[in-house]
Amino acid sequence: MPKRILSGMRPTANLHIGNLLGALGNWKKLEGKESFFMIADWHALTTEYASHVPIKANVIEVVIDYMAAGLDPGKSTIFLQSLVPEHAELTLLLSMITPLSWLERNPTYKDQIREQKGKELTTHGFLGYPVLQAADILLYKADAVPVGEDQLPHLELAREIARRFNHLYRPVFKEAEAILTQTPKVPGTDGRKMSKSYHNTIDLSDSPEEVDKKVMQMVTDPARKKREDQGHPEVCPVYFFHTIINQDNHETVARECRGADRGCVECKKEMASHLLPFLKPIYERRRELSARREKILEILIEGSQKAKAVAADTLAEAKDAAGIGI
Ligand code: TRP
Ligand code: SF4
Repeated sequence: MPKRILSGMRPTANLHIGNLLGALGNWKKLEGKESFFMIADWHALTTEYASHVPIKANVIEVVIDYMAAGLDPGKSTIFLQSLVPEHAELTLLLSMITPLSWLERNPTYKDQIREQKGKELTTHGFLGYPVLQAADILLYKADAVPVGEDQLPHLELAREIARRFNHLYRPVFKEAEAILTQTPKVPGTDGRKMSKSYHNTIDLSDSPEEVDKKVMQMVTDPARKKREDQGHPEVCPVYFFHTIINQDNHETVARECRGADRGCVECKKEMASHLLPFLKPIYERRRELSARREKILEILIEGSQKAKAVAADTLAEAKDAAGIGI
């Protein structure tokens, strides 16, 4: 039996090359008939319920991003969380058996409240975020969930909730394993981790001109103020991209940087000359897909119907096990 996998992203913005090199690249490698890739719009609402982020408009952009990055809806199932109401219903059922203390000790809960300043996140919905995520995973009896390290606490909670349910009633759910992304954290244009909340991203929807401009404005080794200063490639975000997309030549880049034998402008130009051809096909595919929005909506609706068929069976089993319904 092939492994069933499930993963998802929140439609809070267009995806960027950090997502592409990390999560999406990993998904594509694992993609098969038993893969479910979700757009987690309920999750987006837990933090964006009062903001102006256009969740609905972003949904279709994220489907386009998924497909432009190479996911194939003829193979896997691409679906929208809110089109499969079983996610909401299983969340309610699981919330009955999830002790508050498990949610309160979740490290990402406290981190996010600290990081997402200005948002009122001490809500029932946000505290229950991992219960919703557990429902996503358990509905499909996924064997594995490809995620970044930041999601491990949520995955562990999903396993604990599954165990508790199976123990209280009968074994309905599977404990899913994590498949961690191999790519190290991708730096953004300012050197911090690439993240939409830091406004330091290069997006899949950026035109070649925009990509070029962003590369030329990237920070480099902060200790390298003058051309004659010796550089430290290991702290330079430009160099990070050389190691990924200019693999044959990155050692030369590092040597010349250390010996002050190359200037940063020249180095950025060289990096851009590799990055642009790497991103161009994705940009073009994105353009083609964007011109066929009706078709994209159809794909999403069809995928959601396929997902619903699986989710409905599991939910019925779970309700029966918990002794609810007729
Ligand atoms: N919480 C995940 C994130 O912020 C997104 C997500 C929602 C998810 N449901 C999921 C990931 C289920 C894996 C499995 O990135
Ligand atoms: Fe970074 Fe290249 Fe400048 Fe070295 S030469 S600091 S690797 S941009």
